[in-house]
Amino acid sequence: MSKINITVCMGSSCFARGNDRNLEFIENYIKDNGLEAEIDLSGARCEGKCATGPNITINGTEYHEVDEDKLQEILASYK
Ligand code: FES
Repeated sequence: MSKINITVCMGSSCFARGNDRNLEFIENYIKDNGLEAEIDLSGARCEGKCATGPNITINGTEYHEVDEDKLQEILASYK
C-alpha cells in the first residue's frame, strides 16, 4: 500500500453535515488496521464547496457527499 493523504474539510458546513462522523470513522479505520504509517490525515478549511459536502480529498481526488458507507468503499479501493 502506498502512502495515502486524506484531507477532511473541517469547515462548519461539512463538519456539521457528516465530516465529524467521517473523521471519527477514518481515525478508527487507521487504528483498527494499523495504518498510522500509511495514512496522513489532516484537516482543511472550508473551500467554498459546501453545497456538495461533506467533502474529503484523498490523494488529490475530491469526494463529495461522503458518508460512512461511501468512505468504507473509498478506503477499500486504496488498499
Ligand atoms: S465547509 Fe467544507 S467546503 Fe465549506
